[in-house]
Amino acid sequence: MKPILRLDGICKNFGGVVAAKDVTFSVLPGEVHGLIGPNGAGKSTLMNIISGIYTADKGSVFLDEKDITQVPPYTRARMGIGRTFQVPRFLQRSNIRDNLLLGTDLGNQMGYLNSFLRKKGTDFDAELQELLEIAKISFDWSNDISGLPFGKLKLLEIVRSMLGHPRVMLVDEPAAGLNNKEIEYAMDLLHLASKKRGIGVLLIEHSMDMIMDICEDIVVLNFGEVIATGGPEAIASNQLVIEAYLGGEQDD
Ligand SMILES: Nc1ncnc2c1ncn2[C@@H]1O[C@H](COP(=O)(O)OP(=O)(O)O)[C@@H](O)[C@H]1O
Ligand SMILES: [Mg+2]
Repeated sequence: MKPILRLDGICKNFGGVVAAKDVTFSVLPGEVHGLIGPNGAGKSTLMNIISGIYTADKGSVFLDEKDITQVPPYTRARMGIGRTFQVPRFLQRSNIRDNLLLGTDLGNQMGYLNSFLRKKGTDFDAELQELLEIAKISFDWSNDISGLPFGKLKLLEIVRSMLGHPRVMLVDEPAAGLNNKEIEYAMDLLHLASKKRGIGVLLIEHSMDMIMDICEDIVVLNFGEVIATGGPEAIASNQLVIEAYLGGEQDD
């Protein structure tokens, strides 16, 4: 199968810090690929390079085998690279539906206008309803979004990204701050995204249970370098991975 996302020889330094060193891997459509490693390993940096927030010093990013290395972030979003943030980002003092609608094409005024006109009707609402049922979230549409608890906001980040119909979804630590039930709902959403919609999901997550449960393939980073790739079982028993984690110790 052709990868939907491919990184080739990505390098990124911040001053003397090596955040990415010759990173090469790909994500297949319909699969969940885990991106794991100790704190500071370079996971978020890679996501920022894929979404175009950071520019790589060297190497290329391909979306559906098209070189997008020089494409600006808002264009990448419109081309089908969706993302969520570690800390939920929503417009305060604005209602929930508008937030989600706006998020379907965030960062691009024309895109927003288009999506607003296109998705204003029943399709948008039907899809939103379906996703909210999976996330087990119900509320009054007109409620201010700042009234929602953190766990629900994190789930809404995934919902918002899915509403944009991306081809690739970059999901940064969705389980952090969620209770066990909410983690299940997050996994249900990611399962729907990958298995039913064919989206290629790149998942950063500290919860090894979630990674082992949902990922077809896992990339392990340490000090910016890929130290292992493979399925959950191979990764769990890989000596380099075990050492990187035991050596790194503490979490966020
Ligand atoms: N904007 C930045 N400026 C300077 N250093 C950065 C920046 N972003 C990340 N880094 C550094 O790059 C390394 C990798 O960080 P990051 O990608 O956030 O790791 P992870 O997400 O795996 O915890 C860290 O040493 C971090 O301090
Ligand atoms: Mg991070």
